[in-house]
Amino acid sequence: MEIIRGKQVSLIDASTLAERLAGYDVVHIDIGTGDGRFVQYIAQTCPTCFVVGIDACRENLREVSRCAPGNTLFVIANALKLPPELHGLAAQFTINFPWGSLLNGLLTNDPSLLADLVAVASPYAGLDVRLNGGALAEAGWSLEQGADRVRDVLTANGFGVRPPIALTARDLRSLPTTWAKRLAFGRDPRAVCLRATRQADSMVFTAGALQETYPA
Ligand SMILES: C[S@@+](CC[C@H](N)C(=O)[O-])C[C@H]1O[C@@H](n2cnc3c(N)ncnc32)[C@H](O)[C@@H]1O
Repeated sequence: MEIIRGKQVSLIDASTLAERLAGYDVVHIDIGTGDGRFVQYIAQTCPTCFVVGIDACRENLREVSRCAPGNTLFVIANALKLPPELHGLAAQFTINFPWGSLLNGLLTNDPSLLADLVAVASPYAGLDVRLNGGALAEAGWSLEQGADRVRDVLTANGFGVRPPIALTARDLRSLPTTWAKRLAFGRDPRAVCLRATRQADSMVFTAGALQETYPA
């Protein structure tokens, strides 16, 4: 798969990735990571985690990836075609404020997206999806209906999903993503978080502690 560090783009195969992951307790994957600020935060606050940021837009990833901590990797990929090298790795993953095809895939139950999300998740992986009112309105949904729709889609794809948690402007201000800050200080700060767990018969969920390190 294609990775980026600053201006340098290269390929990494599964065995080299496995070497990079050795010794880390948890792999966290942030899909639609934007400028990667959230990845940097998780990596710095949780040194035993290896954090992978994925975005389709390579320009977004240049700045943070240039001097990112050793426990991070930035991958250039479309979420609708996630690299097989990532399959089964994520004990925790996040989708923060999706728009475009990423949001559309969640709303339409696009099998390309949902099958890949399931594929990268390890059993009992935790998934946090944060949705904002403006992006949903552009896609033709109210915040409430859009959140319910995404919840139904995740449920239909084998995730146990708790009821949406409303995010206040204060929550958004303290959330370490660039888009959360923009929303918090913008005209439409309405947002919700959906917390999900991949359902599986075996294995123990190990990433719960991560979920307490920043607001829903
Ligand atoms: C509103 S921004 C949020 C960025 C970041 N998560 C944050 O909270 O600051 C949405 C991001 O999703 C990415 N995105 C949209 N569709 C995507 C897709 N199909 N695959 C990968 N990334 C996608 C965009 O490139 C953009 O960086």
